[in-house]
Amino acid sequence: MQRLFFALLIVLTTALASPAMAEPDQQRQNDLLHLLKHDCGSCHGMRLEGGLGPALKPEKLQHWDAKQLAVTILYGRPGTPMPPWRPFLSEEEAIWLANQLKQGVQP
Ligand code: HEC
Repeated sequence: MQRLFFALLIVLTTALASPAMAEPDQQRQNDLLHLLKHDCGSCHGMRLEGGLGPALKPEKLQHWDAKQLAVTILYGRPGTPMPPWRPFLSEEEAIWLANQLKQGVQP
């Protein structure tokens, strides 16, 4: 299961590798930050300092690039409580969120 997941991670990361991806507009960015605080925050902490899920602070996320994080956000981590957000988020939105996390957003 774990090995399959990492194979999938690589395939999906490559699929997301389009450099000219548009950012979500301002209204959608506000919605995404709201989601980050209230939905992601329910597991990762309202200040993203960790809870049921790990802290999502830049220093903790250094070893992942934004696309890898976006894949985790979109598809979850099978076998853990991290759920897939694909039904609610586009790839662009997941990458935008991942970049916000890597830059140290405080929702
Ligand atoms: C039901 C609880 C839960 C919710 C809600 C949740 N997560 Fe998670 N998340 C987890 C857990 C648990 C892990 C750790 C998985 C593991 O062990 O690899 C995780 C892992 C992650 C990781 C990888 C962190 C790392 O250091 O490897 C990211 C990024 C992440 N979540 C982002 C999000 C975002 C963004 C949202 C909201 C859109 C979200 N999560 C919502 C439980 C949750």
